[in-house]
Amino acid sequence: MTGTYTFSMIKPDAVRSRHIGAIIQTIEQAGFGINALRLLQLSLEEAEEFYAVHKERSFYQQMCQDMTTGPVIAMLLEKGNAVAEFRQLIGATNPAEAAEGTIRKRFGKSIGANAIHGSDADDTAADEVAFFFPEWQSPLT
Ligand code: RTP
Ligand code: MG
Repeated sequence: MTGTYTFSMIKPDAVRSRHIGAIIQTIEQAGFGINALRLLQLSLEEAEEFYAVHKERSFYQQMCQDMTTGPVIAMLLEKGNAVAEFRQLIGATNPAEAAEGTIRKRFGKSIGANAIHGSDADDTAADEVAFFFPEWQSPLT
C-alpha cells in the first residue's frame, strides 16, 4: 500500500469496554492499512510526555491519569491523506458533537473518555510514531 501515515491510540476506556475489535474493523473498512500495532500500559511519565503539548491546559493532569487506567492500543496507520481522513473517521473531540457513524460518536462516552486518539498533523504523527514504534525507520524519517 502507498499512502501517508498517521498514529492512533485506542484509549483505556474503549479497551475496557471491549471495543478493540469493532474499532479496528471500522478502521480497516475505511481503507487504512495497519503497519504496526501494540497493546501496552502507559506509565504516568509516558502519558505526560505523549500529551506534553497540552501541559498548560486545565485538563492535562486528569487526561494523563485517564490514559494510565488500563492498556491502550497504539497503531501506525497508512492511507492516502491519512491524517485528515482519520480525523474525519474518528469525529469531533466531544463524542456528543461528533458526526453520526464516527468512532467517537459510536464508542466515546465523554470528552475525556472519547475512545480514540488521532494525530493532528504529519509532523506530530511522525513524533508519535517515533515515541511508540522507535524501531520504525523508513519512510517516515
Ligand atoms: P486527540 O489528541 O486525543 O486525538 O484529541 P483531539 O485532537 O480531538 O483533541 P485535543 O484538543 O488534542 O485534546 C486532547 C484530549 O484531551 C481531552 N480533552 N478534554 N475536558 C476538556 O475540555 C477536554 N478537552 C480535550 C480529550 O480526551 C482529547 O481527546
Ligand atoms: Mg489532539
